[in-house]
Amino acid sequence: MFDKVIPRLPFLIAIDGPAGSGKGTIAKLLSEKLDLNYLDSGAIYRLIALSSLQEGINLNDAESIISHLKEIDIEFSGGAAFLNNIEVSTQIRTQEVGRIASKIAQHIGVRNQILQVQRDFFCGRGLVAEGRDMTTVVFPNADLKIYLDASPTERAKRRYKQLISKGIDANITDLAEEIKARDRQDMDRMYSPLKIARDAIILNSDDLSIDQTVDAIILNLKDVH
Ligand code: C5P
Repeated sequence: MFDKVIPRLPFLIAIDGPAGSGKGTIAKLLSEKLDLNYLDSGAIYRLIALSSLQEGINLNDAESIISHLKEIDIEFSGGAAFLNNIEVSTQIRTQEVGRIASKIAQHIGVRNQILQVQRDFFCGRGLVAEGRDMTTVVFPNADLKIYLDASPTERAKRRYKQLISKGIDANITDLAEEIKARDRQDMDRMYSPLKIARDAIILNSDDLSIDQTVDAIILNLKDVH
């Protein structure tokens, strides 16, 4: 039924936004509704972060991270994330791994190394890709670009609920601080900072439910030619 709303195939929707803005949930749901592939680009950075952490790699040393990256096997299958064939879906969601992911994501060499990996997700009927530079660097020609935002308080609340539901211990005050620090790190960095693409539609999801946000994006599809 949703085929009617997609103007043409293959189709590419790129969504960027700050930590906890809901892009993961929204993009996944959207991809299921529209029967498109789904790319959680943050999970790639998180997998590299987890692996670097396990191997004790110096996070300031881009060259070491890049050579390590060439030796590891990262894979996504059935909504789960695998590092060297071991499922690590829960391990990559911790605050510590998120913080390290944000740190290693500052290295342009690391970003370049996974550029094509991300672009390869755009195949078949198309893709819904979410992250920090989907609309600006990875898929600058996306058919529809969304910048999903939400207030820091709302984002901290959502992250808290999400972590607790996954059985991961969390503290809401720490989360709010963590979110602010991550915003700064992701927005102020030199390479591929989180910013609003010139041609992106800005959606603030503070007062929208998950379904309302997905519907708001689907509504915008009809304006894409
Ligand atoms: O989205 P998520 O919180 O899982 O991303 C973890 C970190 O990975 C972000 O804070 C950001 O620094 C980095 N990232 C990025 N570019 C992307 C996706 C994530 O730099 N496209």
